[in-house]
Amino acid sequence: MRELSLHILDIAENSISAGASKVEILVKEDTLNDELWISVKDNGKGMDEEFLAIVMNPFVTSRTTRKVGLGIPLLKQAAEACNGGMTIDSQPGKGTELTTKFQDSHIDRMPLGNLADTFLSLLIGTPGVNWVLHYQVNDQTFHFDDSEVKRVLDGMPLTDYRVIEYLTNTIQNGINGLNENGFKQGVNHAYN
Ligand SMILES: Nc1ncnc2c1ncn2[C@@H]1O[C@H](COP(=O)(O)OP(=O)(O)OP(=O)(O)O)[C@@H](O)[C@H]1O
Ligand SMILES: [Mg+2]
Repeated sequence: MRELSLHILDIAENSISAGASKVEILVKEDTLNDELWISVKDNGKGMDEEFLAIVMNPFVTSRTTRKVGLGIPLLKQAAEACNGGMTIDSQPGKGTELTTKFQDSHIDRMPLGNLADTFLSLLIGTPGVNWVLHYQVNDQTFHFDDSEVKRVLDGMPLTDYRVIEYLTNTIQNGINGLNENGFKQGVNHAYN
């Protein structure tokens, strides 16, 4: 994958598969410390320690009885290639928080890509989940929690074009407002 947003999509899809009713996505660029943090936190079914060890290192384990995917290991590798890494904090029955850190300026650090589109597709595609986005560039923050919008909509579907338009504008403007002095995006041409 060439964009961090696609990795975020993959990790958030794991949260949906885990039955989460709330998923919080954090993207934080700290240029002073040259760090880029991405985390996805959910209240899904969680993983026990043994399973977590396999998920983090599918190539190291001798077990072949369980089929494990590559979403997590690929993001972990990408972070490690940029002087960073991944931690996963998970508790069965409670939820999971996956955090990755990258050296922000590292030559191999993938561009963030289209975070707005990624978040919108999660929001509109899985309306039963409470989605939260916390996007931060240094001391500037864009925080979006869809529960307020859903409350105001009062059962009106998120797929209504007026709702999609509102959500798209809110999220794109929120993210791009910060990008002007932060992220140099690889793919951002549609929104400038
Ligand atoms: N947030 C989560 N909560 C509970 N279990 C999880 C979570 N994230 C991952 N898992 C477990 O870890 C496994 C591995 O996840 P990973 O994303 O690496 O691969 P995958 O989703 O199985 O396949 P893919 O390669 O399509 O992503 C998942 O199949 C799931 O069992
Ligand atoms: Mg996955």
